[in-house]
Amino acid sequence: MKHAMSMLIDKTVHTPEQMEALAAELAAVCWGGAVILLTGDLGVGKTTFSRGFLHAKGHAGNVKSPTYNIVESYALPTLTVHHFDLYRLKDPTELELMGWRDYFNPQSICLIEWPQLVQAQLPAFAITVDIQIVSADIRRVVVSQH
Ligand SMILES: Nc1ncnc2c1ncn2[C@@H]1O[C@H](COP(=O)(O)OP(=O)(O)OP(=O)(O)O)[C@@H](O)[C@H]1O
Ligand SMILES: [Mg+2]
Repeated sequence: MKHAMSMLIDKTVHTPEQMEALAAELAAVCWGGAVILLTGDLGVGKTTFSRGFLHAKGHAGNVKSPTYNIVESYALPTLTVHHFDLYRLKDPTELELMGWRDYFNPQSICLIEWPQLVQAQLPAFAITVDIQIVSADIRRVVVSQH
C-alpha cells in the first residue's frame, strides 16, 4: 500500500525566535491526540521548536531538554503535552516499562525528539517536523503528515 503523505509547511527560519514562531503556527492547529516527530541532526533546533510549541499552548515557564528523564510532561489548562527526547534511550524495552503507549491519548499531544530510534513503536499517524541546517543560524523546516 502506498503511504499517503502531504506537505503542510516548508519554510526557512533565520533565528531561534522565528523557529518558535513557526512552532506556534503548528500548535494553533494541533489538538489532543496529535503526535509530532522532530527529526534533524544534533543541535539543529528540535528543542527550540518544542519550546515555541509549548509556549503557544500556554506553558509559561522554562522548557529544558528532557534528556535525562526521557520525557517531560506539561499539564496545561486544556491538555497535557509530553515532550520526549529519546536520544539517550538505552533499549526500546525501556519504553514499555515507562508505559509508553499510555502517553498517546486524545487528551495529550506528544512531541518526540529522535523518534527514529524507536521506529517500530511509533503511532501510525503522525506529523513530522524535519529540520535541516542551511547555513549558520538558517534552518529549513519541513512539516509533513503521514
Ligand atoms: N534558526 C534557528 N532555529 C533554531 N535554533 C537555532 C537557530 N539558529 C541558531 N539556533 C541555536 O541552535 C541551538 C538549537 O538547540 P536545540 O537544543 O533546540 O537543538 P536540538 O535539535 O534539540 O538538539 P539535540 O539533538 O541535542 O536535542 C540553540 O542554541 C539555538 O539558539
Ligand atoms: Mg533537543
